[in-house]
Order: sequence, then structure tokens, then C-alpha cells
Amino acid sequence: MKITVVGSGGWGTALALLLVENGHDVTLWSHTPAKAVALEETRENPMLKGVPLPPEMKFTADLGAVKGCGAVVMATPSYAVRETAHKLRGIIDPGTVVISVSKGIEKDSSLRLSQVIEEELEGKCPVVVLSGPSHAEEVGRHIPTGVVAAADNLKDAELVQDLFMNPRFRVYTSDDRIGTEICAALKNVIALCAGCTDGMGCGDNTKALLMTRGLAEMARLGVALGGRKETFTGLAGVGDLIVTCTSMHSRNRRYGILIGQGKSVQDALEEIGAVVEGYYAAANARSLAQKVGVEMPISQAAYEVLYNGRDVHAVVSDLMSRAKRSELDESPALLFLQEK
Ligand SMILES: NC(=O)c1ccc[n+]([C@@H]2O[C@H](COP(=O)([O-])OP(=O)(O)OC[C@H]3O[C@@H](n4cnc5c(N)ncnc54)[C@H](O)[C@@H]3O)[C@@H](O)[C@H]2O)c1
Repeated sequence: MKITVVGSGGWGTALALLLVENGHDVTLWSHTPAKAVALEETRENPMLKGVPLPPEMKFTADLGAVKGCGAVVMATPSYAVRETAHKLRGIIDPGTVVISVSKGIEKDSSLRLSQVIEEELEGKCPVVVLSGPSHAEEVGRHIPTGVVAAADNLKDAELVQDLFMNPRFRVYTSDDRIGTEICAALKNVIALCAGCTDGMGCGDNTKALLMTRGLAEMARLGVALGGRKETFTGLAGVGDLIVTCTSMHSRNRRYGILIGQGKSVQDALEEIGAVVEGYYAAANARSLAQKVGVEMPISQAAYEVLYNGRDVHAVVSDLMSRAKRSELDESPALLFLQEK
């Protein structure tokens, strides 16, 4: 199939490579001509060092490449999804399957990214979400990986499963786009917090506490929005949470470590030098949670540190001193496990 991958960061490039290896006719779009030229000349992306890009892969900075494609992968940072999808309007053929792989929630509108794409493409293209524990660095090196393709219509998810699946990359289907996208956005906030406690010198107990209670608040928001609680115990939920909270490939975790060590918010962003989605998601998920009236104490704590300059030690102390409560009363994800 003819496929254009829109966004040539680490993830867009790793997915473009996977699709070439699966025999598709792939073009990788960069948002600047200089980047497209550099990729073509060097056949390597600095975000994926040591991974050669094959001669079959084409590079462009012209969004006209999406014309005539059977599928288009949207792999820009979350803050560029609307602007990029807007440019695609009128170029992309109606009916083209759009695969959203960015992780975040839109600022101000609090929309999920697949909703943003649908809005900009006026509902003329089905949108499938691809998410799960999948560091570009490992996918680029053919390390066995499993993800979820979520769509309202399972037929679209199955098409994406067929496009991406190979013996090193397993794709499961799901009909829960809402839950999958909420997991994708929120796990970065929890990973940022997990990194922060690492940077402060806390231990494994703290991280396990954060991950478990983080999953509970992710599920609380996702279920309130209409997502399925099972999604939170799947690859996009607990799977991605584990990989993001524990791996040094995770920028969100590495960013959190710097904050926990006392670096300023801006200095730490500059030191990471690539998109840190958890930084944006901490604010955008907080707005969404407030709109739907869901309590998310860990995400709120991240917001306090990142946007209100609160001290990380004071915030941890506040979280640990919250009112007593029962674990199971408020955790849809854990309740699901208990029911099984
Ligand atoms: N890296 C991963 O392992 C991974 C895995 C799964 C999902 N994701 C998600 O994929 C998305 C992209 O992540 P990444 O790791 O590829 O990012 P990256 O930091 O490696 O690259 C981001 C790319 O976006 C480009 N860019 C910057 N501004 C842009 C704009 N206005 N319009 C279009 N492009 C612009 C930059 O040139 C850069 O090439 C994120 O939402 C991320 O959460 C990443």
C-alpha cells in the first residue's frame, strides 16, 4: 500500500521503517525541507542513531505526498497535530485511513488527538489510534514489541493490524479509542512523576505506588469519558505505563529525573532536546479532568510543580498526607481485576 508518514521524529521514522520492511511504498514527511534533505542524504535520523534507513524509503517536505495513499500516519508532536491535519484538508483523499500515533490532549479544547484530526478532516477519513509500549529506539532495532490499534469500526483497526504486524511487531485490535488515547496521554504524566521521585532519591516502593495509583486515576478519567476499563489493564494502559515509568528511553521519565534533581522546568526541557509530551499533558489533562469533574491528585501534583513552581518535596508530602480511603472504592481498573 502507498503510505505517507507525517512527522519524521524518532517514532515516525521507526514506523516508516517498519512499514517499508512490511513491503509498503512509504514516504516520510518532514516539516522542514532541510530535514527531509538531511534524512535523504544521511539515511539516518539523529533521533534513531545507528538505524540505517533503506533505499526504498522516500523523503519529502511536501504534504502533497498524502494524495493517493491508502493510509497516512500522523506522527507529529501533539501540539502540531491540529496545524498539520488542517494542512491535509483538501489534499488527503476522502476515505484514507489516518493512523494517529501521537500521544497527548489538545490544549484549550481538551480534545483527544483523533478528535482533532477528525475535526480538521471534516469526518471524511476514519481515524485509528496506534498505541502501546513501543520505544522507537527498540522498534528501530527489531526488538519484539506489541501495541494496540483502536478504532470505532473494527474493520479499520484490522486494516492497521495488517499493515504493521510482522513477527517482531504484534498488533492487537480494540474498539476503544477513548480509553486508548487517555492511556497514551496520561501515562506520560505518571512517568514524569515516577522519574521525579527517582531524581529525588526515592525508592522502588514509591515508584510502584505512583504507577498503581496513577493507573487508578488514568482509569477514573478514561471511564468517565466513556472509555472501557479493560483498556487500562491492557497494552495501551498498564503496558505503556510500565515501559514509560521504568525505561531510560523514556524522555518523560528522564525529564522527571532532572526535575527531581532540582533542575528548572525550562532547563530540563532544553536538556532533553526532544518533545516531552508529559509536560504538556500535565496541564491539558488537568483541564480535561476539571471539565469532567474527575479527581486526579498525581496529575494535579505534576501540574503544581511544572506550572506553579511548587517544590517537589512539598508536593510528595501533600500526596502522602491525603485523606484516608479504601483502595478498591475508587479504582475501576483494580475493580476489573478483582471481578475476573
Ligand atoms: N519516540 C517514541 O518512542 C514514541 C513512541 C510512541 C509514540 N510517540 C509519540 O509520537 C509523537 C512524536 O514523537 P517523536 O518521539 O517522534 O518526537 P521527536 O521529538 O523525536 O520528533 C518530533 C518531530 O516533530 C517535528 N516537529 C516539530 N514541530 C513540528 C511542527 N510544527 N509540525 C510538524 N512536525 C514538527 C520535529 O522536527 C521532530 O522531527 C509524540 O506525540 C510521542 O508521544 C513517540
